[in-house]
Amino acid sequence: MTAHRNKTEDDITAEVLERFAGTPDPRLRQIMLGLVKHLHAFVKEVELTEAEWFQAIEALTEAGRMCSDKRQEFILFSDTLGVSMVVDLINHRKPDGATESTVFGPFHRLGAPELPAGGNIAPRDKTGTPTLVSGRVLDLDGKPIMDALLDVWQTQSSGLYDSQDEDLGGELHMRGRFRTDAEGRYLIRTVLPVNYPIPSDGPVGRMLRAAGRHPWRPAHIHFVVSADGYEPVTTHIFDRRDEYLGSDAVFAVKDSLICDFEQHGSASGDAVRLGLAPPYYTATFDFRLKPAAEQGATVLDAQRRLAALGQRAAE
Ligand code: BEZ
Ligand code: FE
Repeated sequence: MTAHRNKTEDDITAEVLERFAGTPDPRLRQIMLGLVKHLHAFVKEVELTEAEWFQAIEALTEAGRMCSDKRQEFILFSDTLGVSMVVDLINHRKPDGATESTVFGPFHRLGAPELPAGGNIAPRDKTGTPTLVSGRVLDLDGKPIMDALLDVWQTQSSGLYDSQDEDLGGELHMRGRFRTDAEGRYLIRTVLPVNYPIPSDGPVGRMLRAAGRHPWRPAHIHFVVSADGYEPVTTHIFDRRDEYLGSDAVFAVKDSLICDFEQHGSASGDAVRLGLAPPYYTATFDFRLKPAAEQGATVLDAQRRLAALGQRAAE
């Protein structure tokens, strides 16, 4: 292409596209050309001022500075802009009977203890309402999957994840890994999940406030459910009674993931055996996994890479 002086806005777009057109990897080429096309169109559509451009650079710089092994501000941006859920939805399109996925979020931590059936993920939570979550992990024909792994995490009844709670001094809490038995059954002891605001002390919080948006997420429990030969699912279960189901700050609610948490005034069954004092809650949810397709990196592989990055940043 001949070099231009006095370039127009559209000349620049065409020239940038041309420079990326020779990207050897075809997928990367497609991504870069799409990115440039849409980024330029966005800047032109809103006629971004220099001050606004600089503000965006500041927000991204601050987001980068805030990231550590305990905080991921870029995932928060992706989640609150709805990008994480668009990625989720285009990657899990077919209603094929498998449990639906939802956002991973920034609060998973590696190294949760493997607990026996009925193990308590909330041993240090003294104010929450005792709750038993149980169900089965099944294949698409409804057959039980034995030895499936459920990686579970949740906030404390204070609404804080362990990594946000300075009193815990870095200790893992409200996390556990459970295996299913021969009938595909799992049983988790916890406390009733509560709704909570996502962190809003950084650029994401400023964006929400400037837009008049609230930071609340409906009460939920996170799961990554996996088993040999099956596609893992990253998901939550939500409490049907929550006031924020219709306005989740990160757009992650799907109808099929809404679950009844039932209150009990007297103990029976597992509650007696595990020593839960009434009033307590139970919730039942069956997970359905589909057979493994050709699979790239899983969400937990990505988490390992992010944790390594965050670790380096914290050093
Ligand atoms: C969470 O549920 O842990 C979460 C998800 C997205 C953004 C912030 C928090
Ligand atoms: Fe959460």
